[in-house]
Amino acid sequence: TTTTSGTASAEEAPFFPAPRSCPFSAPPQHTAFREAGGLHKVTIWDGSTHWLATRHADIRAVLSSPSFSADVRHPDFPLVHSNQPEHEGGLFLRLDDPEHARLRQMLTKEFSVRRTQAMREQLLRITDELIDGMLAKGGPVDFIQDFALPLPSRAICLILGVPYEDHALFERHANAGTDLDVSHEERARTQREAFAYFEALVERKRREPSDDMISRLLEHHTGPDGFAPEMLPVLVGILVGAGHETTANMLGLGTVALLVNPEQRDRLRDRPELAPSAAEEMLRYWSIVSTDPRRVALEDVEVGGQLVRAGEGVIVSLIAGNRDPRVFGANEGESLADTLDIGRDARRHVAFGFGSHQCLGQNLARVEMQVAWPRLFERVPGLRLAIAEDELPFKRNSIVYGLTSLPVTW
Ligand code: HEM
Repeated sequence: TTTTSGTASAEEAPFFPAPRSCPFSAPPQHTAFREAGGLHKVTIWDGSTHWLATRHADIRAVLSSPSFSADVRHPDFPLVHSNQPEHEGGLFLRLDDPEHARLRQMLTKEFSVRRTQAMREQLLRITDELIDGMLAKGGPVDFIQDFALPLPSRAICLILGVPYEDHALFERHANAGTDLDVSHEERARTQREAFAYFEALVERKRREPSDDMISRLLEHHTGPDGFAPEMLPVLVGILVGAGHETTANMLGLGTVALLVNPEQRDRLRDRPELAPSAAEEMLRYWSIVSTDPRRVALEDVEVGGQLVRAGEGVIVSLIAGNRDPRVFGANEGESLADTLDIGRDARRHVAFGFGSHQCLGQNLARVEMQVAWPRLFERVPGLRLAIAEDELPFKRNSIVYGLTSLPVTW
């Protein structure tokens, strides 16, 4: 294996991201790398080469080591697309500790287990409204547009104090930010449009504060010890975007997994108390974040027997780690890492990352899934796909894996 950045040939360093040729499995390339062990070089869109970590233990090692930086402004950082610096430049969450931790802790209370679990009733009401809407319309409907997208969208809007009526604008922004087939110009255009919108919104909250997260940030966490005031619209945009594309894709994919594995669906319907473990298993099974996390080495460091030199980039394959048989191979001797088993203990998954940058919104995402699936299958027990399984339009080239639409009926 080569240890010098930029010298590997295309054969030695295949293109990243690699496709999931079977929509329900890790990219075969990542599986092969994982089973071979060690780190492997991959080439990204700008021609630069970086290490790919695929084993669960190596992923955790990279993400918890202070030898690696998450700062996208580092000149050797493996960027996902050309608009990355514009989008994330100066984004405090991409800073390293202790600065990152100092800023992040101003947000953690808003997404704590207590706060998010306290939203259960509200989320249940939204879930019921969305189900009522689907039933009133009559099948087939697009489950993504009618359920999977509006539930997390309305939840994050409630928390932040963003008017949900404007969702078309921030959905465009969230989508252009994650779809790798969108052009540089188009992505830049939606970024400008969203920034102007969130700037005006923050300004309005400054004049007329209410009981929401933006108003609390303005009151308590802006200024010399907190966030720079000009960063607030960027922060709000990122939280709205992160609150959308991720959980919406999980809700769509998880529903598909339950529809094509009816024995798992029946298990959840008969034992709704399995909802928390079902949510963890879905996170593990789908591992929707396809191109993150990425890091750059600040010093020479060994991972999985491979010397990574200072300045070399490392990308981790969350799905390869979450299907690692060394960790998820056997559960009471029966379930294998590639099998969906909503009763297993999947809590060691790395779908939310690991270490100090582990997902800020994880408790919110969890409660949304825990509420949605049992209610959905309780109220619409006959829910089924309205197209053939092999026609499901899975996203091929996106930062976050998911479905572009999901026609269902009942
Ligand atoms: C970070 C996944 C939902 C906000 C992350 C990371 C992953 C992830 C893998 C780590 C990135 C890294 O280490 O570089 C997911 C998944 C979700 C989800 C799978 C849903 C199922 C959400 C939601 C929010 C959110 C609902 C809304 C607030 C964030 C933020 C970070 C983050 C702000 C950066 C944290 C930091 O750098 O300290 N997420 N996420 N995520 N997520 Fe999520």
